Amino acid sequence: MQPDTILRKYTDRKGREVILRTPRWSDLDDMLDFINSLVEEEAMIAVDTKKTRNEEIEWVATNLKRLEKDEHMCVVAEVDGHMVGSTEIGPRFGRLKHYGTLGISLKKGYRESGIGQEMMKEIEKHAPRLGIEYLALEVFGTNERAIHVYEKMGYKQIGAYPDGIKYCGEYVDSVFMYKKIKKN
Ligand SMILES: CC(C)(COP(=O)(O)OP(=O)(O)OC[C@H]1O[C@@H](n2cnc3c(N)ncnc32)[C@H](O)[C@@H]1OP(=O)(O)O)[C@@H](O)C(=O)NCCC(=O)NCCS
Repeated sequence: MQPDTILRKYTDRKGREVILRTPRWSDLDDMLDFINSLVEEEAMIAVDTKKTRNEEIEWVATNLKRLEKDEHMCVVAEVDGHMVGSTEIGPRFGRLKHYGTLGISLKKGYRESGIGQEMMKEIEKHAPRLGIEYLALEVFGTNERAIHVYEKMGYKQIGAYPDGIKYCGEYVDSVFMYKKIKKN
């Protein structure tokens, strides 16, 4: 898949035009701001340390290369010319590679207007192309909004690492969810 491929344009529940597309080099500064703002607000994600611009350059380079080689898929949401959210899927390795993992986050101010669900619908279409038959994810047991979205999208809870996450001085379960993508 080529960078900067437009997948869909639509209007969200708040009347904003949303472009769902693959990432591109010029997203770099928005991506850096995006990850660092998530870290700063202590969003319920695994990353807990801010990135430098050089680290982000490396990360974007690696991810665009993987995108072009069809090793993974990434869909970003663009609103008013800025990247405000991202979701990615990629196969695991070897005998696990029919299972893919999914990650998703949106910037504060762009949540709860349906963008997360639209991004998930869009990225799932690409799972078969990557040989992914099942998608799996881990989520903070206390992240009720994310769990609601995943369940609405058809993911099932199948267990957890008890106390798998240390978050703001507390232990939180890391909940596993999965969804079958392949048709029988
Ligand atoms: C989780 C996230 C990706 C979801 O995307 P989103 O665009 O906000 O989600 P949507 O607007 O599509 O849907 C939100 C749903 O959650 C519901 N919701 C909101 N708060 C809720 C809560 N506390 N408990 C249960 N449901 C809740 C909304 O009512 C809506 O449901 P509906 O469509 O049935 O009305 C986004 O909120 C986010 O990035 N959060 C911060 C980072 C994060 O948690 N990432 C996930 C890491 S696993």
